[in-house]
Amino acid sequence: MKITVVGTGYVGLVTGACLADMGNHVVCLDVDERKIRVLNEGGIPIHEPGLDVVVKRNVAAGRLQFTTDVAASVAHGTLQFIAVGTPPDEDGSADLQYVLAAARNIGRLATDYKLVIDKSTVPVGTADKVQAAIDDELGKRGLDLAFSVASNPEFLKEGAAVEDFMRPDRIVVGVSDERAANLLRAIYAPFQRTRDKLVVMDLRSAELTKYAANAMLATRISFMNELALLAEKMGADIELVRQGIGSDPRIGYHFLYAGCGYGGSCFPKDVKALIRTASDQGQDLKVLQAVEDANDHQKTVLTRKVLARFGQDLSGRRFALWGLAFKPNTDDMREATSRVVIDELLARGATVTAYDPVATEEAKRIFGDEPRITYAQGPMEALEGAEALLIITEWKEFRSPDFDRLKTALKQPVVFDGRNLYEPALMRDFGIEYHAIGRSV
Ligand code: UGA
Repeated sequence: MKITVVGTGYVGLVTGACLADMGNHVVCLDVDERKIRVLNEGGIPIHEPGLDVVVKRNVAAGRLQFTTDVAASVAHGTLQFIAVGTPPDEDGSADLQYVLAAARNIGRLATDYKLVIDKSTVPVGTADKVQAAIDDELGKRGLDLAFSVASNPEFLKEGAAVEDFMRPDRIVVGVSDERAANLLRAIYAPFQRTRDKLVVMDLRSAELTKYAANAMLATRISFMNELALLAEKMGADIELVRQGIGSDPRIGYHFLYAGCGYGGSCFPKDVKALIRTASDQGQDLKVLQAVEDANDHQKTVLTRKVLARFGQDLSGRRFALWGLAFKPNTDDMREATSRVVIDELLARGATVTAYDPVATEEAKRIFGDEPRITYAQGPMEALEGAEALLIITEWKEFRSPDFDRLKTALKQPVVFDGRNLYEPALMRDFGIEYHAIGRSV
């Protein structure tokens, strides 16, 4: 089928590449000429495992093209996916200007039936606005063209996006007519060979499903983070508690890891946006507000431990940081805990040497030429002469380091682990002073 994807961010690019891989002819549109040039030259502007292979394969097969030409992209796809950014505006609600601009382009230029699909995370009610924008543009042209609007939220995790797209748990599709439902059934058929994973519903329920999923996951994390703080006070171990409750199938093991707070482009933004949507309806989402407050607090858990250990004034002290990205397998630092930690350490007079396998360039972009931050080439190099180590991201290569080397490289063998990577008893045996999250046993 002929498909257009508007927006070549990680959602758009993964969607376009994976749909092309199933034999569709996909055109990806972006306003960013540099990005399109990079893609056309075979480069991938984001770090996403496996994506380069899928993109290259489909570009070579002539099924995947990139363009900045709006008219050509509208003319191309019967299905028009909108996967542009919806950054939060000042009050926390999602900014829809790019989504609606994409919809208007379709209404302004379409000459035959189009199915317009919201893939961006958009507030409940956005499909109505997309519909109105297209209607308005068609009206200006005096055209009575048939079109459908659908909502097809994505549940991709950064770092596992290709895998998530290729083998989804479920595919949520919100529609208001059968023609749209049938087209979406057809393009998603190859992704659900073993069982029917398509959940077809109305537009508003699909839009709310996306926020409900992320808000529920964020709630689990904040709940565990609060319990971890309590566990520390009570002499209990949150890791054992996690296993104890996760074994209940009604609870399950996923997303129960206490840590130094959740980040990324989705949870913080979606939690805020849902709170805002509810308050516009005169409803207070008390649980979700607490989830957000608890997470803001959790991002300071490591520096609070550092201050308790080294005192309020950290001048003259240098700290090593492992991990800058908001989670492993990505260079994304949006809302990353590392940013809160670094800001606080610098504000207290300390300096920082950071190591991250892929996010160093992104950190340099964010912190500019801040002289108090240096970047190491490897994890051990970051430790040399540092006061203590802070672990922010659970990259695989941090899971089993040479503890003897770690101990001698640091000025003092002190580790603040924001991701509970090691067993406290083992750290004791190595003679390392170990501060984990919720593990005081
Ligand atoms: C999240 C959802 O997991 C995806 O299903 C969704 O599609 C995506 O948002 C989105 O809306 O686009 P993502 O933000 O890529 O995906 O990352 P996650 O793997 O969910 O991790 C989010 C944050 O939670 C990370 O900072 C991670 O360290 C933290 N986390 C996760 C914990 O602190 N504890 C856990 O047990 C799990």
